[in-house]
Amino acid sequence: MPMIFFIFKIVVVVAFGVDIVHGGITSIIGNPVKVIKDELDGLTFIDLRLSVVYPLIQSFKNTISSDPLNITGSWVGSDICSYRGFYCDNPPDNKTAITLASIDFNGFQLTAPSLDGFLDQLPDLALFHANSNFFSGSISPNIAKLPYLYELDISNNLFSGSFPNSILGMNSLSFLDIRFNLFTGSIPPQLFTKDLDILFVNNNNFIQKLAEVLGNSHILYLTLANNKFYGPIPRTIARYLSGLSEVLLLNNMLSGCLPYEIGFLKETVVFDAGNNLLTGPLPFSLGCLKKAEVLNFAGNLLYGMVPEVVCAMSSLANLSLSDNYFIQVGPICRGLMKKGVLDVRKNCIPGLPSQRPVWECAAFFAKPRYCSYMQTYHYLPCWLPHFGGSQMSLTELAPSPF
Ligand SMILES: *[C@@H]1O[C@H](CO)[C@@H](O)[C@H](O)[C@H]1NC(C)=O
Ligand SMILES: *[C@@H]1O[C@H](CO)[C@@H](O)[C@H](O)[C@H]1NC(C)=O
Ligand SMILES: *[C@@H]1O[C@H](CO)[C@@H](O)[C@H](O)[C@H]1NC(C)=O
Repeated sequence: MPMIFFIFKIVVVVAFGVDIVHGGITSIIGNPVKVIKDELDGLTFIDLRLSVVYPLIQSFKNTISSDPLNITGSWVGSDICSYRGFYCDNPPDNKTAITLASIDFNGFQLTAPSLDGFLDQLPDLALFHANSNFFSGSISPNIAKLPYLYELDISNNLFSGSFPNSILGMNSLSFLDIRFNLFTGSIPPQLFTKDLDILFVNNNNFIQKLAEVLGNSHILYLTLANNKFYGPIPRTIARYLSGLSEVLLLNNMLSGCLPYEIGFLKETVVFDAGNNLLTGPLPFSLGCLKKAEVLNFAGNLLYGMVPEVVCAMSSLANLSLSDNYFIQVGPICRGLMKKGVLDVRKNCIPGLPSQRPVWECAAFFAKPRYCSYMQTYHYLPCWLPHFGGSQMSLTELAPSPF
C-alpha cells in the first residue's frame, strides 16, 4: 500500500503537524485484524469504519445510471478495500483502525446525478479523484466537515452553476481541480486566501476580472485558460505568479496593454496569453524571462516592433505572434523565423509573406492606439549581454498595486 501510506503521511503532516517519519504509521498488513459483524446485511467487516461506509457506497451505486466499464460490478460484499476505485489505509486518529482513505474514479465514465450523500459523508476520506465521469449536481456544504480531505478533483464532469461555495469551508484542502466543467459566475475571493497549492479552473465559463482572481493568490500551480476572464493583466502579476513555471491565460477576454512587470516572472517556462484582446507593444522586459521556452501571444491586438531582445533569448523554442498587428522584425527575429521558432504570419510586416491585407492594417492603425506607462516598454530589468539593462528588482520598480 505504498500510495495510501504516502497519502496519510501528507494528511498527518498537514492536519496534525506530527512527525511521522520515524515509523508512526503501521501498515495494514502488520495489524491484528478485528472482525466486526454488520447486523443488517449479515456481512463481516474488518473494521467498524468500513461497515459505516458500506451502506453509503451501496446507495450511491443505486444512483449510478450508466457504468459502461462495469466498475460497480466489483462493489459487492464486505471487502470494500478491494472495490475498484476504493483504497483503504489507517486513519490519522487511530493507527490500528482500517478505513476508506481514498477514492480514485478517474476515467470510470460513471453517470450519477449527484455526489451528495456520498462524498460528503465519508468521514476519513483524504483524496477524491473523479476525473472524466458524468457527475453533476451541487457539492454539499457537508464536504467542509470532512477533516482530512485535501485533494478534490472533479474535473471533466458536468458540474454547472456558480462556484461551489461549500469548498470554501474545507480547511485541509490543498489541491482543487474543477477543470472542464460548466461552472460560471466568479470565483469567490476567499478561495485565494486559503492554503491551496494547486488550483485548476481552466475550461469553465468563469466571468471575472483577472485582477480579482490574482488578488491574494500564493498558489503554486494555477490554470485559468479557456474561461471568460477579462480586464488587463495586472501589474502585480509577478508578485503572485513568479513561482509558476507555466502561466496559462489563453482563450480568455483579457484586454489592455501588457505590463512590463511580466518580465519579472523568473520561473516562467511557458507564458501563454494567446487568443485574448491584449493590445500595445511587447515589453522589452520579456527578454528577461531566462527560462522561457514558449511564449504565445498569437490572436491578440498587439502592434509595434518585435523586440530583438526577446528574439535573442537563448532558451526560446516557440515564439508565436501570429494574428496581431506587428509592423517590424529585426535581423535576430528574422533568424528565428528561418529556424521556425518565430511565427509572425497574419501581421502587418511589409515584405513578409502571409501578412494581413493592407486595408486591414490601415483600418487598425486608423484608430489612435495608446498605452499608459509607455516609457516602461523599453525597461530591461535584468542585465543582458549586447543589450545592457540593469539589475532593477521588482521592489525597486513595481509601482503601486494595480
Ligand atoms: C460486471 O462485473 C461483475 C463482477 O466482476 C460480473 O460478475 C458481471 O458479470 C459483470 N457484468 C457485465 C455486464 O459484464
Ligand atoms: C482503534 O481502532 C480499532 C479497530 O477499529 C478499535 O478496536 C479501537 O478501539 C480503536 N481505538 C480507539 C482509541 O478508538
Ligand atoms: C508554437 O506554439 C503555438 C501556440 O501555442 C502552437 O500552435 C504551435 O503549434 C507551436 N509550434 C511549434 C513548432 O511547436
